[in-house]
Amino acid sequence: MTRTDSLRELIAQTGRTPGTHIPVFNPVALEVLKLAHDEKVSLARIESTLLRDPVLSAQVLRMANSSRYGGLAAAATLKQALSRLGAQQVVRLAMAAAQVSLYQSRHPLFRASIGELWKTALASAIGAAWIVHRSNHGEMAEQAFLAGLLHDVGKLVVMRSIEKLVSEQKIEASLPEAVALEMVNTLHCEFGFELTRRWNLPEAYGVICRDHHLETCDTGNVLMATVRLIDEVCRRMGMGCVAEPERMPAAGEEAAALMLNDVALADLEVTLEDKLGLNVVAAA
Ligand SMILES: [Fe+2]
Repeated sequence: MTRTDSLRELIAQTGRTPGTHIPVFNPVALEVLKLAHDEKVSLARIESTLLRDPVLSAQVLRMANSSRYGGLAAAATLKQALSRLGAQQVVRLAMAAAQVSLYQSRHPLFRASIGELWKTALASAIGAAWIVHRSNHGEMAEQAFLAGLLHDVGKLVVMRSIEKLVSEQKIEASLPEAVALEMVNTLHCEFGFELTRRWNLPEAYGVICRDHHLETCDTGNVLMATVRLIDEVCRRMGMGCVAEPERMPAAGEEAAALMLNDVALADLEVTLEDKLGLNVVAAA
């Protein structure tokens, strides 16, 4: 076993072991997500559920009042935000608000990359919702948003596992960033799948976490094709660790299956630049 293999095994074992290093999805946000699947749910029910977590509620309100909605008067309360934006948009904000709090690292190794990871997660969520709208699958926008948001969430588990091992002095603090990021890339699919199971999310999200880097794509799975496509677009745009401008997402089978050509994907890149520049979570 090489040194890299044994390091990978140590991190993998840690990531599979329960503990405080395993991210917890805000339980109120998870409950709101379940409520959102009920077409008959009232805005009042969503409001009362969200208000059980004042920090999450405040974050949702802050996002709702971001410049994306600058044409509207600021919402002073969650109730106002719900009536102006609608339940789906507020649920989307709640999912993003619940996730952003997980993307923090005190370790110098990941201080920069974790911010980049969050930016990519948000871009993937916004972009995935945009893609399904544009490819006439608009009814899947909320699922696509969440699938895009979560598809790389396993990277958090790898990062936190490495941090834990460093703090326990089982890994040297001088671990090169390139080695750490290689571990993140090779282990994140398995850990993402496990994390969505721990969170009791529908299996479709776990399958996307697990399989989004497989060599072949089941293009009949719209969500999978969408996530793979937005992943390519984000890499081309230089999100993540390395810019890969040579990537041609429009030439892939996912773009063909979703009937999006290079003009549409150029439009998507402009949309993402606009929305991320404004630092907002906006509907496609
Ligand atoms: Fe990935």
